Amino acid sequence: MPHIMSSWDSPLDFSRALIMKEAASIDSARSNMPKDVAGIRRDFPVFRDLVNGKPFIYLDNAATTQKPQTVIDALIRFYTQGCASVHRSTYFMGERATETFEDTRRKICRFINAASPREVVFVRGATEAINLVSQTYGRAHVGTGDEILISEMEHHSNIVPWQMLCEEKGARLRVVPMTSAGEFAFDEYETLLGPKTRLVAVAHVSNALGTVNPVGKIIRLAHRQNVPVLVDGAQSVPHMPVDVQALDCDFFAFSGHKMYGPTGIGILYGKEKLLEAMPPYQGGGDMVRSVTFEKTMYSEIPHKFEAGTPNIAGTIGLGAAVDFLESVGMANISAHERGLLAYGTSALEKVDRLHIIGSAKEKAGVISFVLDSVHPHDIGTILDSHGIAIRAGHLCAQPVMDFFKTPATARISFGIYNTREDIDALLDGLAKVKEFFC
Ligand SMILES: Cc1ncc(COP(=O)(O)O)c(C=O)c1O
Repeated sequence: MPHIMSSWDSPLDFSRALIMKEAASIDSARSNMPKDVAGIRRDFPVFRDLVNGKPFIYLDNAATTQKPQTVIDALIRFYTQGCASVHRSTYFMGERATETFEDTRRKICRFINAASPREVVFVRGATEAINLVSQTYGRAHVGTGDEILISEMEHHSNIVPWQMLCEEKGARLRVVPMTSAGEFAFDEYETLLGPKTRLVAVAHVSNALGTVNPVGKIIRLAHRQNVPVLVDGAQSVPHMPVDVQALDCDFFAFSGHKMYGPTGIGILYGKEKLLEAMPPYQGGGDMVRSVTFEKTMYSEIPHKFEAGTPNIAGTIGLGAAVDFLESVGMANISAHERGLLAYGTSALEKVDRLHIIGSAKEKAGVISFVLDSVHPHDIGTILDSHGIAIRAGHLCAQPVMDFFKTPATARISFGIYNTREDIDALLDGLAKVKEFFC
């Protein structure tokens, strides 16, 4: 994986990167890690510190990712070299902030291959992106007796906003079941998709199971009936190349903090025609062309959906995160994480009394599991004492837990800095868990 410096890097960053690179090459002589992953890991300052006296092993990337120095530097630069508002300041710092802010919009547009930056709306995260669509497009197009179709493996963020809309409108939320492997059930989908369906909303990758849904096919079938599709891409964008035009999705939602960027910033992609026809989400400054007490004229898209002072620092940080991802290469990231998935799956399958939850043929780097007679929270706590961070709980996907008849699972999820050594350390940790409880 080539690790090239991004356009955000100052000469200072560059010399630090050189030092890190040298250190990585010394380290790789003693390590099984691929040299470039060791180098990438060194770009993340969090891994320099010990946790509970142990090297930090982070396996909770589906929840959020650690941040590379370039993203942290972009945030610091914005706050130290001149903090100014966007789209309204007539002075140098304001113009520079606006330029950098809008530059991120262009980067995101290129990164997901949107047709135009006008299709890229800045929001707080995937959750807000989905709420935006339900409260604007949904309110305008869904009425009594209409149906919204989601799948059984959705994150709560792609369930509750639709439930709220259905309640308000007297519409019905219909759920496409999953198979025992945790795969999208196409036969049932084709049966459920009908003249009453107003929208399909489905995860690209399940955060609880790792299932990669064939969203291209889901979209094609929906479009045959003129039904638009929202894809929840919170777990796909950080881990695989995404091309919204090739998918032909109508909306696509994702979060910056899961893709090595800051918290509080995310993206709603929407097809230009749809966004143009939609009413605004929130009212306030920056989303208006003119205001009188009688009438307000709204701004053009995407600004129509961005009321108030936006998360400028977060947006700029997200731009640095996109630079980081592109410098590594999404195909490389995907291949690396697929390798970890294969290694981790076969290692965990050999652990006595451990059961992996979710065995779809197409999976991303997420492995959920349970260990007989040990609560996932206890697994998490003991692993933490060994410097290993995993997720334990219902994973904001309680219907998935109900389906698999378990209140909770333990979950590991990979990022670009993870290695097979991390998985080996996890196995050692699990042996300690078993010693303690079994
Ligand atoms: C599949 C999926 N959708 C949506 C979300 C919500 O993301 P956020 O909390 O960043 O808005 C998550 C977060 O874990 C997720 O995994």
